[in-house]
Amino acid sequence: MNKDISNYDDFLGEIFKKAIEGPRIFRNKSVLFHDYIPKNLPFRENEIRKIAHLLSNLLKGYRSSNLFVYGKPGTGKTAVVKFVLNKFLAIAEEYNKSINYTYVNCRLAGTEYRIITNMAKDIGLNLPFTGLSSEEALNRVVNKVIADGRPFLIVLDEIDSLITRYGDKLLYTLTRFTTEKTSIPYMIIGISNNLTFKEYMDPRVLSSLSEDELVFKPYNPKELETIIRDRVPLAFYPDVVEDEAIRLAAALSGAEHGDARKALDLIRVAGEIAEIAGENKVNSNHVKKAYSSIDRERIVDAVSSLPLHSRIILASLLYMSQSGYDSVKSSMLYNKYIEFSRRMAGSPLSYRRFLGLVTELGILGLVNKRLENYGRRGGRISLVKLSVPIDLIRRALEEDPIIGELFK
Ligand SMILES: Nc1ncnc2c1ncn2[C@@H]1O[C@H](COP(=O)(O)OP(=O)(O)OP(=O)(O)O)[C@@H](O)[C@H]1O
Ligand SMILES: [Mg+2]
Repeated sequence: MNKDISNYDDFLGEIFKKAIEGPRIFRNKSVLFHDYIPKNLPFRENEIRKIAHLLSNLLKGYRSSNLFVYGKPGTGKTAVVKFVLNKFLAIAEEYNKSINYTYVNCRLAGTEYRIITNMAKDIGLNLPFTGLSSEEALNRVVNKVIADGRPFLIVLDEIDSLITRYGDKLLYTLTRFTTEKTSIPYMIIGISNNLTFKEYMDPRVLSSLSEDELVFKPYNPKELETIIRDRVPLAFYPDVVEDEAIRLAAALSGAEHGDARKALDLIRVAGEIAEIAGENKVNSNHVKKAYSSIDRERIVDAVSSLPLHSRIILASLLYMSQSGYDSVKSSMLYNKYIEFSRRMAGSPLSYRRFLGLVTELGILGLVNKRLENYGRRGGRISLVKLSVPIDLIRRALEEDPIIGELFK
């Protein structure tokens, strides 16, 4: 036991000494976190102007058209809207214009009720955590807004997460209440990176939300390079990040989705890797390592959040790939799946549901399914294969508390 303690002593001493004496990489890592709002948002001037023009109606005491903001992940929607709002609220305060204002991230809030209690809190109304129906809670919010008589601004970020789970009732009430009961100037801004939620909406509510629309385009590699370059001097000590590292991070994230969040994540993780290795520069090798570690995280996350039967299908495909199959016929994969699910989960799903789950795994980019002509009669078979490295899937499944059993 003593031996253990002295071992710890050695390496603990080293870690802490290195923190004081070793190379310094980060000056302020928090500017690379996702919720940081930069002072400057290049390439978004038009979007910023448009939101500002709409909002200025509220300052004049008019109603503004509602706005639906759409764009792929990491294109700056949240950052831009919050950036404009901060200025809007500062000017409103300077001129003593009281505004009832609420910003809610619907995904983070979780339930419809919590979205409403968050809105209530923002306008200075306390609602009980439980006990009211969503309708009653929303009524109280509406009544408070009407009693206050101030312009009302509602921002619902990641609004798809509200609509796909709870439908459009909340939005319906919000788009109606002022026209029916009062003439309070108001505006709703809905933000999303996903359009499938539109199917869950009544066309009238949808058109009311999208009176005006703003689409954020993905950034190209050059734009991402500028975004990283702007942020690096705030986050790192001078001359720590090599130019090549910045260019590579921009190229890698630009080649994929034009996602600024990913670009900034890459440079942050590269810095962490350099720091742990005790080096004093961040170079392109660190960025490459960051790229594969972030990708690994993404795959492990995707696999661990799959439903049980999808994980069993992946385990079956992994098993067959390891026994030498490159692509596997769906029917053969189904047989293996039946065997595994009897061992793990009891009764297997029908072939139809199995195929549905395989298609979903394809949408997530974990497997690839294709149809191939087969035999002289022109029948077709579907072939399935893993579309991410075997060792990554294996690692993700081995960590799985249930499926991991199959690999022991
Ligand atoms: N034009 C820009 N200039 C500087 N930083 C930017 C710019 N656009 C985005 N970013 C940064 O990229 C990250 C992602 O941006 P943001 O959170 O606004 O994306 P989003 O479009 O809301 O994505 P999601 O759909 O996933 O919510 C943030 O850290 C933000 O500061
Ligand atoms: Mg966002």
